[in-house]
Formats: sequence, structure tokens, C-alpha cells
Amino acid sequence: MNSIARVRRQGLRPNPGSNLRLPSRERFAWVLGVWVPCLIYATVRYNVFKGVDWTHLPLYIVNKSAALAGVMFIALAYMVGKLFGGVPGSEPVRAKAKFFGLTGFAMISMHVLMAMVLLSPANFANFFQDSGKLTLTGELTFMFGVLAYGCLLFPAITTLPYMYDALGMQRWLNAQHMGYATLALACGHTFAMGYKGWFDVSTWPGSMPPITMIGFLAALAALCVKAVFLGKRRSHR
Ligand code: HEM
Repeated sequence: MNSIARVRRQGLRPNPGSNLRLPSRERFAWVLGVWVPCLIYATVRYNVFKGVDWTHLPLYIVNKSAALAGVMFIALAYMVGKLFGGVPGSEPVRAKAKFFGLTGFAMISMHVLMAMVLLSPANFANFFQDSGKLTLTGELTFMFGVLAYGCLLFPAITTLPYMYDALGMQRWLNAQHMGYATLALACGHTFAMGYKGWFDVSTWPGSMPPITMIGFLAALAALCVKAVFLGKRRSHR
């Protein structure tokens, strides 16, 4: 008896969205379609226009692209079914949301690991005082980042097989909705570290908007879509 048949016999319900798996071509296309433009953007902005040495492409620049692609995937996970992709709550939409969410989680996990390796005054001068302690910008940036990652663990862990059955519908949904807290905290994370450079266009290398600003707007867009969606649902009641 295969594992799905065994679980069905035991009466366990699979998580919503786990009956379907996106075709590998589609998954591949999404990962490349989102991450490669982020990598090109970071490379052109920093290596080409800002003059960052090409030595720093493998980690410093790739970290920026992983952070941006990660936040975009998390935003997509919460916009699918509302803005695009099919009927909200349907199995294909849930399957896409699961794929986007887990891809976002994987990219942000890589971002966190890479950021830890890079963390030094030489790489991030505005996060550190001369004494080596964190500045207020550094404190706020990392507080928001750590909290955002902590909240992201809830939806990620509850996509493990049969968590829906283990937790029950309401607790499972609550855990999935923690992704909105991640998006709000990601806004804080990017705002705290980057807002000073957002408004003076003359300081943008190659006139390209800062990655912090793009990440902030991606997270904010998903939160706004949710707010509009909730507003519409209430007015239909
Ligand atoms: C333990 C948690 C985290 C740590 C330590 C951390 C650390 C950092 C650091 C050091 C930077 C600056 C990178 C640079 O300027 O090159 C950064 C940027 C960024 N982070 Fe995080 N982060 C964390 C969590 C998150 C989470 C959860 C998200 C999104 C869901 C996120 C999204 C971003 C974005 C979009 C940027 C802007 C990229 C850039 O402009 O370089 N981070 N983070």
C-alpha cells in the first residue's frame, strides 16, 4: 500500500493544496523568472553603476538578489487567487500559494545565512558604531528581520504533511496568515535600513531605485491587496 493510500485509510486529510504539484517546468520558470531579473538588477545597480568590485558578486550581490526574490515570492504567495492564478481557495491556487511561499522561505533562509556571513562594519557601515556595537538603524533592521523570519516559520512549518489534520482548520489557517505579519515586518526591515536613500533620486546609482524600496513596495502591495480583498468580502455580506 502506498503512503497516500495508507494515510487515507487512517482518515488523515492532506493539507489544502498538497494534492496538486506544479509541473517542474512551471516551477523552474517561476524561480528563474523572478530570481534572475533580481540578480541582474542587483548586479547592474551595484557592480556596474555603483562600482562595487566584481569579487563581491558571489555573496554580497547574490544576497541582495535572494532577499528581493524571497520577499517577492512571499508577496506572490499571498496575492495568488486575489490578483491572478484562479479562484481563491481552489486547489490550483493553494498549490501555487504553497510553491511561492516555500520558495520565498528557501530564498529568505539563504538571505539570512548569507547576511550572517557578511555581517561586519566593512560591509554594512551604517549598522555599526565605531565601538563595534550596533547603531539604531542596525538594531531596528535586525529586530524587524528576525521577527519577520520568526513569523515566516509558522506558515512554512505548517506546510509539512498532514499539519492541517493535526492542527485543525482554524489553527492551520491562523499559522498560514502569519505570513502577513512577515510582510508587515519586512516593510519595517527594509524601511529601517533604506528609507534615507529613497527620496534623493540623485543618489541612486544609474537612476535605479534602491532594492530596499522595491522589497518594501512588494511586501506593501500584498498587504494592500489583502486589505482590498477583505473590504470587498465585508461589503458583500
Ligand atoms: C534573521 C533575519 C534577517 C537578517 C539578519 C537580515 C539581514 C539583512 C541585511 C544585513 C540586509 C542588508 C543587505 C545589503 O544591504 O546588502 C538585508 C536586506 C534585506 N532583507 Fe533581510 N534579514 C533578515 C530577514 C529578512 C526577511 C524575513 C526578509 C523578507 C521577508 C528580508 C528581506 C530583505 C530585503 C528585501 C532586503 C533588501 C536587500 C538589499 O537592498 O540589499 N530580510 N537583510
